[in-house]
Amino acid sequence: MAATTLSSSLFATTTFKAPPPHSSSFSHNFNLCTTRQSLPRVRATMLQDNEEKVKVKESLPSKISTFDDAGKASMESGDSTSSSSSSSFEKFVIKVEQSVNIFLTDSVIKILDTLYHDRDYARFFVLETIARVPYFAFMSVLHMYESFGWWRRADYLKVHFAESWNEMHHLLIMEELGGNAWWFDRFLAQHIAIFYYIMTVFMYAISPRMAYHFSECVESHAFETYDKFIKAQGEDLKKLPAPEVAVNYYTGGDLYLFDEFQTSRIPNTRRPKIENLYDVFVNIRDDEAEHCKTMKACQTHGNLRSPHSDSADDDGDAALSNLEADCEGIVDCLKKSVTSNPAKLK
Ligand SMILES: [Fe+2]
Ligand SMILES: [Fe+2]
Repeated sequence: MAATTLSSSLFATTTFKAPPPHSSSFSHNFNLCTTRQSLPRVRATMLQDNEEKVKVKESLPSKISTFDDAGKASMESGDSTSSSSSSSFEKFVIKVEQSVNIFLTDSVIKILDTLYHDRDYARFFVLETIARVPYFAFMSVLHMYESFGWWRRADYLKVHFAESWNEMHHLLIMEELGGNAWWFDRFLAQHIAIFYYIMTVFMYAISPRMAYHFSECVESHAFETYDKFIKAQGEDLKKLPAPEVAVNYYTGGDLYLFDEFQTSRIPNTRRPKIENLYDVFVNIRDDEAEHCKTMKACQTHGNLRSPHSDSADDDGDAALSNLEADCEGIVDCLKKSVTSNPAKLK
């Protein structure tokens, strides 16, 4: 309860509205994730006492029923008293999960602040090495569920892969800028990544909602790190050339995967121009904000949709998503695997 009280005073959940890239209000809108600017290091969303559930900003309509729909249906058909007590208990669990996540993220940030206060590119290299890991972990667990026939949702696998592809390009950019020059930095980043992968696999299997919130914390920190760097070094960055890997990634031919990870945008609506290093960092920062929004949306079970799901090409995937098995976390998956007959789904 102490953690709940502490975190409630530090964080507030708001809907996160996507500003256009390069917008001067971008940073301001992002910081609306918190009510107090000076204290918290992590600006991820936090459930408040007067909220029923983490709010989700959706600019694309969802074909899949959300927690709120399911909750409403259960309230209408079942015992409202037991639903209300289970809802209070769930709110308490969410707050505990989020408090643990924020404590863990802040602890890691303190260590990174100490080690990398004067070496920006090395810090970014470490961050980007770590940043891809949760997407690998989500995909590993989802593939396991898929193999067992417990869960099949094409959109989740597609979007998480596109997110890891985006983070890999951030990493390649940092490597081209020399962030991986020191053996110690590579050793530290890669060993944190192994630990983080194992932790995320377990967390995601037990509570997908908690794992997605943890990732939101990490992405939120990445956004702030780049935003601060751009504000401090902006003029110098404008005089430096963009790494080739960045030009190819952001302006290359096929941008399907670039659009795929930006789940609150319609494909083809964000096409960066890359003329110098400043443009590169602005776009990396904007990517981090897109990851943050996606991780927030994922905290409502079944909410995630590929931005390409409405296109004619992906009709098959959309149909698959609506027809196939669904479960939330390994306990729910095991329970449903015992009580349901897969033949009925066909
Ligand atoms: Fe990144
Ligand atoms: Fe990121």
